[in-house]
Amino acid sequence: MVKIGKIELPEFPLLLAPMEDVSDPPFRRLCKIHGADLMFSEFISSEGLIRDAMKSRQKLDIFDYERPVGIQIFGGDEEAMAMSARIVETVNPDLVDINFGCPVKKVVCKGAGAGVLKDIDLMVRLTKAVVNSTSLPVTVKTRLGWDDSSINIDEVAERLQDTGIQALSIHGRTRAQMYKGEADWSHIARVKNNPRIFIPIFGNGDIDSPEKAVEYKNRYGVDGVMIGRAAIGYPWIFNEIKHFVKTGQHLPEPMVQDRVEAARNHLTWAMEWKGERVGIVETRRHYANYFKGIPNFKEYRQKMVTLDAAQDIYDVFDEVLHKYGEGQTV
Ligand SMILES: Cc1cc2nc3c(=O)[nH]c(=O)nc-3n(C[C@H](O)[C@H](O)[C@H](O)COP(=O)(O)O)c2cc1C
Repeated sequence: MVKIGKIELPEFPLLLAPMEDVSDPPFRRLCKIHGADLMFSEFISSEGLIRDAMKSRQKLDIFDYERPVGIQIFGGDEEAMAMSARIVETVNPDLVDINFGCPVKKVVCKGAGAGVLKDIDLMVRLTKAVVNSTSLPVTVKTRLGWDDSSINIDEVAERLQDTGIQALSIHGRTRAQMYKGEADWSHIARVKNNPRIFIPIFGNGDIDSPEKAVEYKNRYGVDGVMIGRAAIGYPWIFNEIKHFVKTGQHLPEPMVQDRVEAARNHLTWAMEWKGERVGIVETRRHYANYFKGIPNFKEYRQKMVTLDAAQDIYDVFDEVLHKYGEGQTV
């Protein structure tokens, strides 16, 4: 069993990575149903939360069925981070996660996200400000360092642990790498094997199959893995990995009817959450992923992403079922 504060997770838990514009409540609900053990919100700007910006506030929406769930915040100012942690606490998530990994320029320029990797003292101050302002467990997600010549995750992990954080997720890339190249998990393994480190260490980067999850589990010894891109349009990955870890066997692949059901639920839950209009628009970006690999699918996808009425989109799902057969996998 892996523990984060009082949160008890199964052995070798699978975490859904925080992903902007992706890991919202409807998507998280799908991942939960299909086996995610711990999930995170999209990252939320501490300044936005304090300004009470609508976009930031909506990202605080969490539901009981998705627990345990963490809310992720980012920012470069201690006071703003402390205040936003207090705001986060009012919606009662299971934990607060701090993002020190976002490589995007507009975040880094404000000294937030991965920008903080250049200044460990600031990182420590920001983390302390959050830890001291909330009674929730605090966790951190970060990268290996700023660039290849300044990998500092060993020092970062020790110093963050000393602030009182309760788990650390490490994406095995530097900021300079953005999403290019391969994640280098050897640095993550070194942190995990550091005798001073006692908090759970979760590895992140490029897990996209049950085989890889098991291989990395065995090779790098991490306490669990965090999965991002591979879950987009394929929430089944969580249970597939769990089953493979337990039995060494593969679960059958999802059939077309499972894919249709996932897309249908995603749309329904998005509309329930944000209303019909916004739900329809925001779900459009997911369809291509749910139906990846289905031959000659363009015509259907085109309809799904242009139709404006929910019933018309549900009808297209029925057409897809009819055309590609209920029992078919891709
Ligand atoms: C579309 C997208 C949005 C992301 N948004 C966030 C975010 O809000 N917070 C964060 O910590 N990481 C974010 N990330 C990084 C992921 O959490 C994860 O670290 C990265 O995708 C590597 O994991 P993967 O190879 O399993 O995808 C994002 C990644 C993607 C692809």
